[in-house]
Amino acid sequence: MPTGMITFMNSEIQSAYLAAEGFLEPLQKELDGVIAVHGRLILSSQPVKEAYWAQNIWRNLRTLHIDSINDAAKQLKAIQRNWCLYSYHLHRRAKLILEKLPPVKCTPLSFPSPLPTSPLGSFTLLDENTLLASAECSSPFPNGEVRFVEDKDGPPNRAYLKLYEALTLAGTQPQSGEFCIDVGGSPGGWTWVINQCGAEVLSIDRSPLSALVAGLKGVSFQKRDAFTLLPEEFQAQDRRIDWLFSDVICYPEKLYEWIRQWVESGICKNFICTIKFKGGPDLSIVDKFAAIPNSRVLHLFHNKNELTWSKISSLSSSDL
Ligand SMILES: C[S@@+](CC[C@H](N)C(=O)[O-])C[C@H]1O[C@@H](n2cnc3c(N)ncnc32)[C@H](O)[C@@H]1O
Repeated sequence: MPTGMITFMNSEIQSAYLAAEGFLEPLQKELDGVIAVHGRLILSSQPVKEAYWAQNIWRNLRTLHIDSINDAAKQLKAIQRNWCLYSYHLHRRAKLILEKLPPVKCTPLSFPSPLPTSPLGSFTLLDENTLLASAECSSPFPNGEVRFVEDKDGPPNRAYLKLYEALTLAGTQPQSGEFCIDVGGSPGGWTWVINQCGAEVLSIDRSPLSALVAGLKGVSFQKRDAFTLLPEEFQAQDRRIDWLFSDVICYPEKLYEWIRQWVESGICKNFICTIKFKGGPDLSIVDKFAAIPNSRVLHLFHNKNELTWSKISSLSSSDL
């Protein structure tokens, strides 16, 4: 057996996935070879895959035999400095191991902030003497939880946190001098974020923006059906669009058909859209979004029963 793999119920654990709170089921449906589910952590006998619904993916798993709490901490420290714990049982022993490790700073981020650069691993105790660890997690945040310093006065709702997170993960944001469209923009959380970034924003919705957001300099609003907005309108004015955002509540298929026209037109540089589901998600439509070149689909920490599709021009396919 290759080093670092553990036989667990006669199957080798090859990959592990942490689901977001309340979203274990869609993640489980996406994965093959599920060996065990521990709390929100799913262990699989299959090679790692970029599961849409995972909040954190544990790659290149190692299983460590530990003789004691000190030994566990020593072995983890020998791999790298920073670790976070996902604990589903043996909580006290797991916490004692964590306490022996160097502290990891996890203060809320002020938006905008760059992504943390220090690698952050994850570990859990499978039993008293067996630790499962990954030094190569998909998220640089502890258990994929991206927390921000909140603004209770500016935005009209909490949707702004979703865009904070999407832009932080993209490693870029709208700039002063750029032109953005925000469809399904009301009451205006996302429009508020774009305006805070210094970019001009046209917000589109069938309902009005909050008065506070509507009154911001650089924000304009059109009350209309988002799907009547097509690239030709802007091509006729020879107008480039730097960012197209959508948080419209609609069927994923409808969003896909609309967004495809925008992507194919080549008129817009960057896209961030939420794909919303009623009940269980249909993975075939999600796969269609993911197949759009240089794009990715993620379940953000701030997403509910929805995924976020993004296509960012500054990211090459190797960054995704
Ligand atoms: C989740 S809310 C958007 C919240 C917004 N992103 C924010 O930060 O405040 C979804 C919005 O989509 C709008 N909507 C739904 N269908 C629409 C359509 N066909 N055209 C325009 N807006 C639509 C709704 O009116 C609603 O305001």
